[in-house]
Amino acid sequence: TYIVNDNCIACKYTDCVEVCPVDCFYEGENMLVIHPDECIDCGVCEPECPADAIRPDTEPDMEKWVEFNRKYSEMWPVIITKKDPLPNADDMDGKEGKMDLFSE
Ligand code: SF4
Ligand code: F3S
Repeated sequence: TYIVNDNCIACKYTDCVEVCPVDCFYEGENMLVIHPDECIDCGVCEPECPADAIRPDTEPDMEKWVEFNRKYSEMWPVIITKKDPLPNADDMDGKEGKMDLFSE
């Protein structure tokens, strides 16, 4: 599976949702997540994210991100249409400590 990590927080570019063939992105207030059980591992979303926030779970120490994505994908609504990024997306891309900004 692929997952969305904390660099999506406060950016939320949403380019990713346009390309997903199985519509498995879910939207929170300031980030998206992928449902790990619905993702078919096609990989087409990964290069679409300007913030490089989409990663394969084959990278080291990804279990916490898989569980994070699963948890919130079961709470949040699906998103299938691209929308404007959050207002300070370009400034926030790559900022440290984004988990402090996360809102459920
Ligand atoms: Fe969707 Fe493919 Fe990305 Fe999984 S890897 S979230 S199926 S676009
Ligand atoms: Fe987030 Fe990147 Fe999609 S910033 S909304 S994972 S395009």
